[in-house]
Amino acid sequence: MNIALASDHAGREYKKMIGEHLAAKNIDVADLGLPEEQIKADYPNYARKVAAEIIAERAEVGILICGTGTGMAIAANKIRGIRAAVCTCEIMARLARCHNNANVLALGARVIGPELALALVDAFMAAEFEGGRHQQRLDLIEGG
Ligand code: RB5
Repeated sequence: MNIALASDHAGREYKKMIGEHLAAKNIDVADLGLPEEQIKADYPNYARKVAAEIIAERAEVGILICGTGTGMAIAANKIRGIRAAVCTCEIMARLARCHNNANVLALGARVIGPELALALVDAFMAAEFEGGRHQQRLDLIEGG
């Protein structure tokens, strides 16, 4: 599975940690920034970068990290085809995939600890969309 990963300045350390965590599992990770030398960054720019990789099918899923996860999710969800979920517990991460077919996990580095962040990444990656009634509901979101 290919993963696109990005953060703003608030998520910088978690981005590094998550990138290393996934690389250790031999998962392909594209780190889309922010660059190490950049002091501050506006999260919508990074949400768009990750969304673009998914829409172009260069990545299957994305992980976005900011202070709370909220700004990243709001920005990413503006892009058609993106289903970003802010998750703060493992069941949210699992069900975001199983029920909502989320293709972006949004995390808040200022609101969850590092061990939980990695557990959420693992739960999100391990889960699969269940389809069926959940697909019908996703179709309704898209106006179908
Ligand atoms: C940056 O200070 C902060 O606003 C941002 O990381 C994020 O939490 C926004 O949702």
